[in-house]
Amino acid sequence: MMTKAEIVAQILNGRGRAPAAGGYAFAPSNIALCKYWGKRDEELNLPVTASLSISLGRLGSTTKLSLRPDSDVVRLDKKELAPDSPFARRIGAFLDLFRRDAGMYFEVEAVNTIPTAAGFASSASGFAALVTALDELFGWELDKRELSILARLGSGSACRSLHHGFVEWRAGTRPDGMDSYGERLDAAWPELRLGLLVITAAEKSMGSRPAMKRTIETCALYKSWPEKAAADLALLKKAIAEKDFHLLGATAESNALAMHATMIASWPPVVYWRPESLAAMQAIWAARANAVPVYFTMDAGPNLKLIFQAGDEAAVRGVFPDLKVVRPFDAEP
Ligand code: PMV
Repeated sequence: MMTKAEIVAQILNGRGRAPAAGGYAFAPSNIALCKYWGKRDEELNLPVTASLSISLGRLGSTTKLSLRPDSDVVRLDKKELAPDSPFARRIGAFLDLFRRDAGMYFEVEAVNTIPTAAGFASSASGFAALVTALDELFGWELDKRELSILARLGSGSACRSLHHGFVEWRAGTRPDGMDSYGERLDAAWPELRLGLLVITAAEKSMGSRPAMKRTIETCALYKSWPEKAAADLALLKKAIAEKDFHLLGATAESNALAMHATMIASWPPVVYWRPESLAAMQAIWAARANAVPVYFTMDAGPNLKLIFQAGDEAAVRGVFPDLKVVRPFDAEP
């Protein structure tokens, strides 16, 4: 098994120059329509299956980076994090991979434009913005494939946040993961909308890493997941190519429910749903029965992400007045 440090050395391969004064980058958050659920390599965050996401346009993370002589400082949304807080330690451990000498420390200023306080915290956009800012600071001039691989070492789903629009994360087969990265699909769907539905802002009960591990280790249903994910990926690509909204929505919703089914059938069970999550699903199913074309997806938390098209926004808002509506293709370069 290879280590993260070996992968970093292989990618950087002596690249870079004297550090610039700073680095600055933005990366969008992403929501998976076909989920990444399960690792084949825990160290390198290599997935069991391919996945497919849509980036959230201007919602994501900006990261400003500079060097300091004495210790790391991490500020998140203008607040300095305690050095021993879980997030500061996670960032510090990731930055360890890139320090050129023992006396090199970083000041990291991360600002999320996605409402983190509302439970949409995304490590994905954070790590994608961080590696892009590091690239600027050190002048590596890496391409998106290489940046995606580095971002994956911070958080798996971060490898999909290097691009806007629809992004496929190829699972790859190589033990070093050099063929496992996010790639943009050549497709746009300007009328597509995502609605962020806040069920609770409370911190989630369990991170995705231990939840995935427990599912793989204890869930008999997980054996069927790779086949389901492969079938859904093909259906989603067809839906995107043909702009078939019902196929897109139904496939994404079914994929998310199948992922949650594997969690629920693990032992001890992993249940992110709150009663209000189920109530929201029932409201969505009722809306569909009333001819409002709206679907949902859900990640490792209680909140829902609604999927609909611009022409149905008023009807969807009629059911969910507090929805935060995102236009994923608005920030197209
Ligand atoms: O990249 P992680 O470790 O935050 O895992 C993300 C897992 C899901 O959000 C549940 C699915 C996905 O594909 O984003």
